[in-house]
Amino acid sequence: MSAEDFQIEDKIMATFAPSSEVELDSRLGFQAAEFVRTHHRMLIDGNFVPASSGKTFPVYNPATGEVICHVPEADHNDVDKAVVAARRAFDSGPWSRVSPSQRGQLLWKLADLLESHTEEFAELESLDNGKPVSVARIADVPLAVDLFRYMAGWTTKNLGSTIPLSAGQDFLSYTVREPIGVVAQIIPWNFPLLMAAWKLGPALATGCTVVLKLAEQTPLTGLRLAQLIVEAGFPPGVVNVLTGFGEPCGAPLAAHNLVDKVAFTGSTEVGKLIAKAATGNLKKVTLELGGKSPAIIFPDADMDTAIAGAASAIFFNQGQCCCAGSRLFAHEAVFDQVISGVSEIAGKIKIGHGLDPATELGPLVSEEQFEKVSAYLSSGREEGAKIGSGGGRYSDRGYFIQPTVFHDVRPDMKVVAEEIFGPVVVAQKFSSDADLEKLAAQANDTVFGLAASVWTRDISIAHKMARRIKAGTVWVNCHNVFDAALPFGGYKQSGWGREMGAEVLNNYTEVKAVTVKL
Ligand code: NAI
Ligand code: MG
Repeated sequence: MSAEDFQIEDKIMATFAPSSEVELDSRLGFQAAEFVRTHHRMLIDGNFVPASSGKTFPVYNPATGEVICHVPEADHNDVDKAVVAARRAFDSGPWSRVSPSQRGQLLWKLADLLESHTEEFAELESLDNGKPVSVARIADVPLAVDLFRYMAGWTTKNLGSTIPLSAGQDFLSYTVREPIGVVAQIIPWNFPLLMAAWKLGPALATGCTVVLKLAEQTPLTGLRLAQLIVEAGFPPGVVNVLTGFGEPCGAPLAAHNLVDKVAFTGSTEVGKLIAKAATGNLKKVTLELGGKSPAIIFPDADMDTAIAGAASAIFFNQGQCCCAGSRLFAHEAVFDQVISGVSEIAGKIKIGHGLDPATELGPLVSEEQFEKVSAYLSSGREEGAKIGSGGGRYSDRGYFIQPTVFHDVRPDMKVVAEEIFGPVVVAQKFSSDADLEKLAAQANDTVFGLAASVWTRDISIAHKMARRIKAGTVWVNCHNVFDAALPFGGYKQSGWGREMGAEVLNNYTEVKAVTVKL
């Protein structure tokens, strides 16, 4: 470690170590410090409150494994209070009287507030999740800001249609779109702020009220956002934010009878539990789940772009993306070049504490995730995969994993079949004999269907592959491009419904057909 690294580590320790006696000092340069040191509270019915049990749980810094603060541990009693508040705000409370235009203004105000705190949010996200602050600053925070602005525009465009009846002219029929009601939203830890925005934006734009449960690993940006929601002027009960664990807090929320819809992002395993929990009152369900997305490189691709793109497709966010390009397919003519190119990039990535401005790859989010990915690394080795780069842990402290390239893999290997959710790619070769049908079948040979990327200069191949791939997103000559205007979601076991774009509004509204006999 260089002297410079030591300095930044020192600064981080002085600011965020739990027992730190250091007075908050602006010269330490962290805007997140003040919030981290506050007494954390959840937002229920417009008030910042502790858990009704009084319990709290620790929040860890994944770069060091140390506790940075504690947050309330909600259980079914807190869920109940939050749902009742959301119910009241929707049925009889202020939210039903707020005009679409006012809802738009509130969302825009929230976006402005968030934008003005970009640095603080980027630091909080980095500290809590481990991701590089340089990435959070240009991706997580601005994408969340954009999402709120985009959704602000939809508040006044919630259109129905006039429908001529097939049976005759003596009727006037039209549809209206009404908010679905109280929405439970349960989010994961990989993009804590952005997932909160993806969920809250469309719910609030359509006039729903929300109980949002943050991921237990990463509650900080969501709790800070709750403060901005109040500051923006959203009425009490419209947004309620809980911190707690899956079974004691998420499960009763997903099952609650006063909830009209549940929106979930996370593991496929828990997605299935959510779907079951929703059957009690047949609440509507949307799910955004796992993936094992292919990145397919044709021999005519611009190789520099494709190699850098394939590396970033898997290493972005430490590989903790549901749409990570985790299965790499490269044509035999360029396979060796691709493997050595991606491996070389992997070997050069600067790994370190997320708050270090030079860091390009941070730690994984938690010890659990670290253990899970480490087990896949062992499994890949045991099953005979060759290693182009990485393959182990980095540093003896914190949850760091080296960016890893496995090649010469077979479809039956665990590392090929299962979602790893870490910076680990498995590379397979395809030959000129493989026509597009065969290749697409290989790419589609997974229970998932979230995303894919195709790298080629041949527009015909690009569009033919786009048609053949069974996934909610197909990128051509790019990967991990997100936009508030683009629908995102999965085929097959990657989920139900779509997030973002105009599409998501359908998942937060009911359609009512009104017919008048003239
Ligand atoms: P998880 O699915 O357990 O957690 C996601 C959210 O669901 C959290 O807020 C959690 O508290 C909540 N939850 C857990 N059990 C619940 C239950 N029974 N009822 C209601 N809510 C519940 O995911 P976890 O354990 O954090 O990660 C495990 C794996 O899931 C990862 O290794 C990765 O493969 C996948 N994952 C996928 C994500 C995606 O973006 N699609 C995000 C995070 C994880
Ligand atoms: Mg879990």
